[in-house]
Amino acid sequence: MDLKESINVNNIPAHVAIIMDGNGRWAKQHGEDRIFGHHEGVNSVREIVEACGEIGVKYLTLYAFSTENWNRPKDEVDALMELLVSTISLETPNLHKKGVKLAVIGDIHSLPPTCQKELQESIDLTAGNSKVTLILALSYSSKWEITEAVKKIGRDVEEGKIKSSAINSRLIQENLNTKKFPDPELMIRTSGEHRISNFLLWQLAYAEFYFTDVLWPDFRKDEFFKAIISYQNRERRFGKTSEQLRSN
Ligand code: FPP
Repeated sequence: MDLKESINVNNIPAHVAIIMDGNGRWAKQHGEDRIFGHHEGVNSVREIVEACGEIGVKYLTLYAFSTENWNRPKDEVDALMELLVSTISLETPNLHKKGVKLAVIGDIHSLPPTCQKELQESIDLTAGNSKVTLILALSYSSKWEITEAVKKIGRDVEEGKIKSSAINSRLIQENLNTKKFPDPELMIRTSGEHRISNFLLWQLAYAEFYFTDVLWPDFRKDEFFKAIISYQNRERRFGKTSEQLRSN
């Protein structure tokens, strides 16, 4: 049977977050350079955004460039930035047609100006869409994001805008880059690595994790549907017991 048909339409995660890993290894396996792997990875991005629209996932966050990725060889960083600019420019009309809204999290001001401009144009054009919100994590790390939130709250306390006794998890959440989005219910990492790599540490507190050996350029719709089906077979207890869940 078609994998998509096995999906329970009444239990679709509203928000899926993905660590797209394995582009470099995929390229090596195909006798190509790392950049070729990143280019091929864009095809997976396109398919997964489409798949979200097809099954009703409302938010998709992709870890496209981490704070730590700035430490890669300059050639690779430059190529990734160029790829980002060309992809956003080429894909935006199609995203817009399909009702996708683009959003970005991370230290955006550290990106090259051309990249910031391209992103802003796409964000502005797609602002009214609501079918799927595609959130690109760029120059993002969770420790950076949480540190920025703590600094902002500290300033508000210093300036007398809030009392320190008013600090609670909701206030912290409201000061994160992701304040407008629900927390992901499902986090996927490709390429066989079992790490969280400074990604959405706060927001993934209760997420289900799905790890697959498939490398990102090979992670297409059916692989995504397998992850959704795996999610649907989990029991999400949020600290409660199975018996409590059954009696509710
Ligand atoms: C990880 O693979 C991948 C990245 C650091 C970049 C991801 C970027 C893309 C898929 C293309 C651009 C994306 C968008 C949204 C336009 P890796 O290089 O760490 O692979 P490896 O672990 O095999 O070396």
